Amino acid sequence: MLTRRTLVRLAGAAALTLTTAFPALANDKPVTIKFSHVVAPDTPKGKGALKFKELAEKYTDGAVVVEVYPNSQLYKDKEELEALQLGAVQMLAPSLAKFGPLGVQQFELFDLPFLMANYDDLRKITDGEVGKGLLARLEDKGIKGLGYWDNGFKVMSANTPIQTPDDFLGLKMRIQSSKILEAQMQALNAVPQVMAFSEVYQALQTGVVDGTENPPSNMFTQKMHEVQKHATLSNHGYLGYAVIVNKAFWDGLKPDVREKLEQAMEEATVYANSIAKEENEWAMEQMKASGKTKFHELTDEERKEWIETLRPVHAQVANRIGPELIKQSYEALGIQ
Ligand code: LMR
Repeated sequence: MLTRRTLVRLAGAAALTLTTAFPALANDKPVTIKFSHVVAPDTPKGKGALKFKELAEKYTDGAVVVEVYPNSQLYKDKEELEALQLGAVQMLAPSLAKFGPLGVQQFELFDLPFLMANYDDLRKITDGEVGKGLLARLEDKGIKGLGYWDNGFKVMSANTPIQTPDDFLGLKMRIQSSKILEAQMQALNAVPQVMAFSEVYQALQTGVVDGTENPPSNMFTQKMHEVQKHATLSNHGYLGYAVIVNKAFWDGLKPDVREKLEQAMEEATVYANSIAKEENEWAMEQMKASGKTKFHELTDEERKEWIETLRPVHAQVANRIGPELIKQSYEALGIQ
């Protein structure tokens, strides 16, 4: 029979092993969450991250400290996903267009041109079965999806007018690492170039690429409008985020701490999604006021041409995303 002393020693050793594997279980030290992202602090994602920090630290009464690293300060696009899997950072909110290299390319569904017309459509996807199913796919990769944060609908920009699909012929267009965005640019007869977000401004400035696409908040905060003479308010596609966390880290948290963080994340998500639209509208006003980029609104006729050129991309890339997932999304959106 084990003596009381041996039992106490064994219990102590087990606790030590657990707290070594999961420092989050230790009682005394605050748990640190490194939240890395690539955009400016004054963007929907940047503000969402800071709101999460504020609430997480408040609700856990200092038991959790959240360090937010904006502007690719710690890692660029591709590295940040690797860093999360290795546990070098705990939390990220990559764009939905960046999950392909992780092997979860189904997120590229969000990149389909002219799939969603507005934020109401977006909610039907993110809050429904499609959105939940996509987050669940991350678990196999050692990642837990905590929710979706909005940014907005994209503007196309270049140094030459790009009002009709014909205007894109031969233009080098920077894209995120999504095969759907690649197909989209090819449908426009442009030359897509995958590039990390942190490098876009300089690439535009030096002419390494001719143009790009992004929601106004990103375009403005990265000063892209200073190096792009023309832009079209095409709203042809959406850019938003999945907030993700290292699963072993999250599962290793004390249940009461995790609950408080879940609460903080839920509220930060409501906050981030409540400001995204106006942040983008504000950024657009600033860019228009600066007079550096000439913004073009599509006429009905031009819009029809864009849709006719870009909608065939859905069928072309169906096998990459999964025809069933596309069908499910069409049903959620009421597309025939
Ligand atoms: C981009 O690379 O254009 C965006 O994904 C950046 C971001 O995170 O909004």
